[in-house]
Amino acid sequence: MRVAGIDITLSSSDLAAATADLIVFFAIEGDRRIEGADSSLAKRMTGEAKRRGFRAEYGKTLVFEHVSGKTDCLLVGLGRREGVTFERLRIASATAARQAAALRAKRVAMRPVGAALETFDKDALLRATIEGFVLACYRFDKYLSRSTGGRKSVSGGAGRPERLTIHGLKKSKVLDAAMRRSSAVVDGIVIARDLVNEPANMLYPEEMAKRARSLGKSPQVTVKVLGPRELERQKMGALLAVARGSDRSARLVHIAYKPKSVAGSTRRKRRKIALVGKGVTFDSGGYDLKSTSTMADMKTDMGGAAAVLGAMAAVVQLGSEHEVHCVLALAENMVSGDALKPGDVITARNGRTIEVNNTDAEGRLVLADALDYITEKENPDVVLDVATLTGACVIALGTRLAGVMSFDRKLAEEILAAASRAGEGFWPLPMVEEYSKQLESSIADTLNTGERYGGATTAALFLSHFVPQGSAWAHLDVAGPVFSSQADPLWGKGGTGFGVATLVDFVLSR
Ligand code: BES
Ligand code: MN
Ligand code: ZN
Repeated sequence: MRVAGIDITLSSSDLAAATADLIVFFAIEGDRRIEGADSSLAKRMTGEAKRRGFRAEYGKTLVFEHVSGKTDCLLVGLGRREGVTFERLRIASATAARQAAALRAKRVAMRPVGAALETFDKDALLRATIEGFVLACYRFDKYLSRSTGGRKSVSGGAGRPERLTIHGLKKSKVLDAAMRRSSAVVDGIVIARDLVNEPANMLYPEEMAKRARSLGKSPQVTVKVLGPRELERQKMGALLAVARGSDRSARLVHIAYKPKSVAGSTRRKRRKIALVGKGVTFDSGGYDLKSTSTMADMKTDMGGAAAVLGAMAAVVQLGSEHEVHCVLALAENMVSGDALKPGDVITARNGRTIEVNNTDAEGRLVLADALDYITEKENPDVVLDVATLTGACVIALGTRLAGVMSFDRKLAEEILAAASRAGEGFWPLPMVEEYSKQLESSIADTLNTGERYGGATTAALFLSHFVPQGSAWAHLDVAGPVFSSQADPLWGKGGTGFGVATLVDFVLSR
């Protein structure tokens, strides 16, 4: 099966005899066994490991020549058995892919550690292996004039692996399904990464809406794009206010997926799930202008919308028994003679008046109208919004974790569980009603901005007024992890596609 441009096959043959440029083994710290290695190779490996001080610590690798002298061997450390999570397996596989690229190995054979990890199902093991490997091969090289051009972003360019053969897992229905699932999740992540990496002069609301439209080819999917005139008609005053200062006008994209009605499939209750994404294609801050350094990466401020779109693409590919709605709130936050000014009062779609005391708190404005639109039109059973909403969330949790905020504890738990199965880091942040005082305005129903401290929470409290009271709604602040500024085995440098895997797991396990 081809997964994002890389050929993946399961093989029942002996790994030590595989025809490959690189053979990969995994080792657990404190465990002498190396699965898949015959006795002569195992002996050689333990010898090499001892000589070079390799103890299979997490993240450590060892490269040496195969006894035959024709292929390279790679040993990847997984660390101690107790610490091996889905996320770590994925990172270990990503590390192997990066080594393979560095060694210019085109054909890679690998043996995931299975027997030693009784806590993992075979299908989770396979998914972690595939996802880690393929995602590590991702490149955004469309603007490099030296590239051969027009190629898919994954596995483009020289020196990148083309084929992965996975040994030690027997073909089965379950594993076929796991492969299809990985393939869909990876495709979704690639969609999100490509969108986040795209510069803002190339990707603006209209262009992003155009790309979202291409999902509409499936008969189960309808795509609706609202332009400036329809947005006026819909009274989306908050979304329009943000876009006012830009020559690129706002869009709201509504993608609806309806499952095929199959007789006898009403066993479980069919749910309606809404995923809403912040799609600010560039955030200059508006008149509350950002500084040079904080504006630098603001082409990534549509990372929430990219994640929900990528997840939607994966769900459509895999099929779901639930109805899924995806809403992208798209605008560019700029300055001009007509732009939103600090102190302006605007009226959101639900009639709430907002005194805009900071034009840089624009994400909550575009989301306000999107949340009201979808909850009023579709009355979903559950709503998740995903947004690069606050620097405060990044201060609190760092760049590898996203914040989860909800009045609905069970829903928050459900999201955290999906995230840990998907190998992504989410962490709960508090919803403290007490802080709502910070949003009191003397001339309008609300301010859009509270104090600096606790900024992730006040942003979420602001949003809570645009979904029905007591509804199952959660806000996911992904400002930290959607973008990586350092090269990392799994995430690379640039857009990460963070959120896609968790959202897909959330929808599929409902
Ligand atoms: N897009 C930013 C949030 C952000 C910050 C994302 C850093 C990624 C990295 C958002 O629109 C913003 O500017 N938020 C302000 C809110 C403040 C004015 C209340 C912030 O966090 O500074
Ligand atoms: Mn902003
Ligand atoms: Zn923003």
